[in-house]
Amino acid sequence: MNDALKRAAAEKALDDVKPGMKLGIGTGSTADLFTKALGAKVRGGLDIIGVPTSERTRALAEKEGIRLSTLDELGELDLTIDGADEIGPGLDLIKGGGGALLREKIVASASRRMIVIADGTKVVPTLGAFPLPIEVVAFGLAATRAAINTVLRACGLDGALELRGDADHPFVTDGGHYILDAHLAKIPEPAQLAPMLVGIPGVVDHGLFINLAEKAYVAGQDGVETLTA
Ligand code: A5P
Repeated sequence: MNDALKRAAAEKALDDVKPGMKLGIGTGSTADLFTKALGAKVRGGLDIIGVPTSERTRALAEKEGIRLSTLDELGELDLTIDGADEIGPGLDLIKGGGGALLREKIVASASRRMIVIADGTKVVPTLGAFPLPIEVVAFGLAATRAAINTVLRACGLDGALELRGDADHPFVTDGGHYILDAHLAKIPEPAQLAPMLVGIPGVVDHGLFINLAEKAYVAGQDGVETLTA
């Protein structure tokens, strides 16, 4: 059922893909459905060039026969299509449940437009029920964790910071970093928290995507709704 909704949102986004576009291709189960649908279009003759947001997406896109390049070669992209873990007011997002938040944010930021695809369960009145992924350098993990806790307290937030994976085998991102998932329950002021987190030495980036998404295609039982920022 959820997969059918994810597919509906993914297929709706195909309408925004035009011949000749330079396209950022997202990561996650919804983005995978988009990549597969895009692959079918490409095999049918659509000419686009893509930049994948993860090694996982690169492998899928290659399998689908989608021509790929890099941001360094292409410069600004026309459009990025990606999923989200939460969609909050103003289309502020939490992303990174799949661990690809850093490349996802670099690619979305290098695109003139970003469109989010999701099923209706992702839309929330306040961000934060989904644990916020914070990508950190492995060196000095304890010091970085302490500094994040200080920032969270300064923002009136509290909650466990859980190392993704386990202590002996932490999850490692495509960039070779670790992820701390912050269980905050509610993030009422994401725009306040975001710059404070990136100001911490050892924090590479975080899963708050502020002012990046232009619109979201959200699929529910009654069809696909378009949300705008
Ligand atoms: C990957 O790192 C994430 O940002 C995904 O885009 C996000 O987790 C959405 O994934 P699903 O479509 O699988 O829910």
